[in-house]
Amino acid sequence: MPGFGNDFETEALPGALPQGQNSPQRAPYGLYAEQLSGSPFTAPRGTNERSWLYRIRPSVKHSGRFADLSLPQWKSAPNIGDHTLPLGQLRWDPVPVPAEPTSFLAGMRTMTTAGDVHTQTGMATHVYVANADMADEYFFNADGELLIVPQDGGIRVATELGVMDVVPKEICVIPRGMIFRVELLDGTARGYVCENYGAKFTLPDRGPIGANCLANPRDFKTPVAAFEDREGPCRLMVKWCGGFHETQLEASPLDVVAWHGNYAPYKYDLITYSPVGAILFDHPDPSIFTVLTAPSGEEGTANIDFVIFPERWMVAEHSFRPPWYHRNIMSEFMGLIYGRYDAKEEGFVPGGMSLHNMMLPHGPDATGFEKASTSELKPEKLTGTMAFMFETRFPQHLTRYAADLDTLQDTYLDCWSELKKRFDGTIDGNWD
Ligand SMILES: [Fe+2]
Repeated sequence: MPGFGNDFETEALPGALPQGQNSPQRAPYGLYAEQLSGSPFTAPRGTNERSWLYRIRPSVKHSGRFADLSLPQWKSAPNIGDHTLPLGQLRWDPVPVPAEPTSFLAGMRTMTTAGDVHTQTGMATHVYVANADMADEYFFNADGELLIVPQDGGIRVATELGVMDVVPKEICVIPRGMIFRVELLDGTARGYVCENYGAKFTLPDRGPIGANCLANPRDFKTPVAAFEDREGPCRLMVKWCGGFHETQLEASPLDVVAWHGNYAPYKYDLITYSPVGAILFDHPDPSIFTVLTAPSGEEGTANIDFVIFPERWMVAEHSFRPPWYHRNIMSEFMGLIYGRYDAKEEGFVPGGMSLHNMMLPHGPDATGFEKASTSELKPEKLTGTMAFMFETRFPQHLTRYAADLDTLQDTYLDCWSELKKRFDGTIDGNWD
């Protein structure tokens, strides 16, 4: 169903969705009515989110006595100082897919955490590597919504509200508290996850851009109702304030036959993003490429911005076209879904990652600078590339996993070592 933040309604069986009221004395098909609230009841209308679910068993039957569960690679903020890697700009090659059977959940590895999960501020960045389906396993995350960015291999995300197939170039968002299971469409899978502890992602305001372009609402897709009427033992795993818990169930919790409301998962094809950029000279700030933003409460200061660097035409005259050199109060975690990133043509490979933390300088490597400073500025199409950034107002603290990761590049800083002094006191500088 198309649209961002719409009030949807859908039923997998005819007449399963009550009409005219939410809570009839007896719901159709003997279903249980249940509300799932993603905002406080009293949130303003524009941010008030809830859905009504009509299900075979109520959620209290999909939860029993909890036991502790260990998922040691999945960390939550605050998680500070558990490694000794000095401060610096960092870059990693891709994380390899393990040989042993690993599900989407078991394959989640936290790279950075920011803010504080207990105060619902900040976020975490993760990579996932998987080669096994979650079989008879279900999960929900009370700590935040999950923005999933597949990089290699598609995933099928079966949620309480419906099923989404998500392949590289697409993303999906699973709301806080929603139960789901992940299966692999291609045998193995790798990707990135942003766990948003704070207010939900929404579309950025466009200001003078007007009513169209960037991510358009109609390109977001929410699944129709789909249910499993499956008896038999299964596990529900829960992340709650950074800890993990599990409980045994007697039947699938994905048993919602009909639902209506605006608290729902969605997917989005990054190829449908309509970029806006420089058509005469200079380069706008990268915020021009924001797909989704999660506000922090302070105006213009995002808890998270999800930004992409898609295919686009470069036409600026007498301009340095790649992203400029930069220091930033925001902290920037980048990944590459496919192709090459224009400011770093070598060393930053699909599946790789980089981290440019609060106030640490970054920018084009020496080769990129040389090329962009001397090449003829014809209109040029940047093709076959899709990088992205999870950017937050909070410093991103590295996990021990990320600090010790074999694929951490010791030589990343060398990419700037060949930047020469061009200043020689003449107005043109020295370009020999
Ligand atoms: Fe930056």
